[in-house]
Amino acid sequence: MERLRGLDGSRLAVIQMAGARGLRIEYYCLTRAEGERIVGRFGGGLRPLRPESWRPRGAPVAAKPLLFGDRLVVTGREEELASLRAKYPQRVVLCIPAALAFGTGEHATTAMCLRLLLGGAGRRIAARWNMLDLGTGSGVLALAARALGAQGAMALDYDPPCVRTARENGRLNGVRGVKFTVADVHAWKPAQRWDVITANLFSIVLVRVMPKLRRALAADGDLIVSGLLADQADEVRAAAGSAGLELVEIRRQGRWRALHLRHRAKAVAKRRATR
Ligand SMILES: C[S@@+](CC[C@H](N)C(=O)[O-])C[C@H]1O[C@@H](n2cnc3c(N)ncnc32)[C@H](O)[C@@H]1O
Repeated sequence: MERLRGLDGSRLAVIQMAGARGLRIEYYCLTRAEGERIVGRFGGGLRPLRPESWRPRGAPVAAKPLLFGDRLVVTGREEELASLRAKYPQRVVLCIPAALAFGTGEHATTAMCLRLLLGGAGRRIAARWNMLDLGTGSGVLALAARALGAQGAMALDYDPPCVRTARENGRLNGVRGVKFTVADVHAWKPAQRWDVITANLFSIVLVRVMPKLRRALAADGDLIVSGLLADQADEVRAAAGSAGLELVEIRRQGRWRALHLRHRAKAVAKRRATR
């Protein structure tokens, strides 16, 4: 696994086949030249694909729909969408097929973000709120937020195929009002403030952009971050504290962690007043 460091995790599939001793590694390359570099480094072969048809062979589509509390259901099977909506009329039901972009709801980091989002959305149920999703992948978090009542949502990812997939998922689910944009979080400049921000990225990126995330967060806003491993949680938490964010909750699932942070509006205002 050490040898795979440096590859883009959202284009990488590590597949364990039932009964097989080894693992199969698949990597989706954006150009033939990139493919040739990867084959030169790791061996294996190239197979031409249309971007929209990429899906790792054997990629898991959850056997059952994923239930998040009593408000959200996520399925990977389009053919189930109508029957699930009929079965759960009081819940938001989304279909996120396994595709080029990360985020079917199955991965621990996505699942924890969705659960924290449900908590935040629950808190804001009677209020108007907006939402920003950084590193949107399949768009699952932004689409869930919008379907759960966010008045507006913006979502960005630096990978154009992810943004295309996220837009397609919006159409598939009939969810409008999410502005999907191609942008790198490092270069992105927030033009407004957001009540809820989700960022399921990598710890190193989160640490770097934490002050910017705090500036983009409305007073009393919620920041949900994941994509961090157990031994990275303290570093991300410290960066959040230095930026003026307080920890509300840590979620743990296997070796993954997710943090729910809040803008310390009162503390910041008090500090300013006593200067
Ligand atoms: C772990 S996936 C999360 C996808 C989805 N939000 C979820 O929670 O399942 C991380 C996503 O962040 C994107 N990403 C990574 N670094 C980024 C950066 N610097 N700027 C924008 N997007 C980035 C990747 O392309 C990938 O789609």
